[in-house]
Amino acid sequence: MMPVMGETPSYDDLAGDLTGGRTLVEAEAQGDERAVEAALRPRTLDELIGQDRVREQLSLVLEAARGRGKSPDHVLLAGPPGLGKTTLAMIIAAEMGAPLRVTSGPAIQHAGDLAAILSGLNEGDVLFMDEIHRMSRPAEEMLYMAMEDFRVDVVVGKGPGATAIPLEIPPFTLVGATTRAGLLPSPLRDRFGFTARLEFYDSAELELIVHRSARLLQVEISADGAAEIASRSRGTPRISNRLLRRVRDYAQVRSGGDIQRREAKAALKLYEVDDLGLDRLDRAVLDALCARFGGGPVGLGTLAVAVGEERETVEEVAEPFLVRSGFLARTPRGRVATATAWRHLGLRPPAGAAFPGGSGGPATLFEEDPD
Ligand SMILES: Nc1ncnc2c1ncn2[C@@H]1O[C@H](COP(=O)(O)OP(=O)(O)O)[C@@H](O)[C@H]1O
Ligand SMILES: [Mg+2]
Repeated sequence: MMPVMGETPSYDDLAGDLTGGRTLVEAEAQGDERAVEAALRPRTLDELIGQDRVREQLSLVLEAARGRGKSPDHVLLAGPPGLGKTTLAMIIAAEMGAPLRVTSGPAIQHAGDLAAILSGLNEGDVLFMDEIHRMSRPAEEMLYMAMEDFRVDVVVGKGPGATAIPLEIPPFTLVGATTRAGLLPSPLRDRFGFTARLEFYDSAELELIVHRSARLLQVEISADGAAEIASRSRGTPRISNRLLRRVRDYAQVRSGGDIQRREAKAALKLYEVDDLGLDRLDRAVLDALCARFGGGPVGLGTLAVAVGEERETVEEVAEPFLVRSGFLARTPRGRVATATAWRHLGLRPPAGAAFPGGSGGPATLFEEDPD
């Protein structure tokens, strides 16, 4: 992503030298990644790995609609980036044998933009709206009406002479995707007949995904090679697929092309993704927190200065995963390292360190992984 004029370059821009744009463990899709991803997307619900509950719920919704010969209810897909929302939207259209029309919240600035899209729909179409929480307010209000009554009022003219012309919309299915379900106003949320909440994947599921992707990329991978990649993927298929591609490059250039545990470990060491999926920035944050601030508590601003990053980068890029995996806690007095963090860095916490939530005992000194 190009830095916006006048803004300080962010970690995303600066990390480019090594990874061609952003950090390797970033959960959002990166510029040139979309085409590659398209090739790895499961096409049917049966092909989808994991998310068992969502898969079963959704297959019922779709099968029932097919049985009635009607469009299924509107579906909201909620969850962090990289877990399969876009994939599921495409699957819904494919399973209904319907065309998929694609738009996104940020692309709809005015109600008129939405009216143009809606009036172009045919009966049974699936309209995918990515990042639906970023749609403008006036468009949102038009969308409520379209979802419920399959009609909209198009306002023609301005001021006292303006008139609303009602416009019929053929029955369609809206599939909305959001990483921030909490930001959706409840009238919008309530108009979805079904909300699928996607969960992070466990290692076994990610291993299956790595094996499947390797098959599609026509690269041989051993079970322990796939396990090595899966365990560093932060519960996220998009990251699994990205790490797999980097490991494939390494295996192709530096060894015979096949991926075993050895290739996976060496490649990911080269790219500075450690055995729990932490990258350089994540480790820099933990290292500053433990080595310089005795484990905290320390304020976000101070921590950001210590790692030479913007506050926002530390808060939005590094912290979510560090908090989720129990390395760091946010307390009213500041950021605090947990026993797990000390242990992961191979450090001994100071005697009498109080750990948030009382989790974990004193950490012991760990040897560096010999490989
Ligand atoms: N359940 C899954 N099984 C296999 N691959 C998946 C699964 N979920 C996601 N992926 C892969 O991960 C990548 C990102 O998925 P995507 O649907 O674009 O995520 P999102 O839209 O939630 O950010 C895609 O290449 C897709 O093939
Ligand atoms: Mg997506």
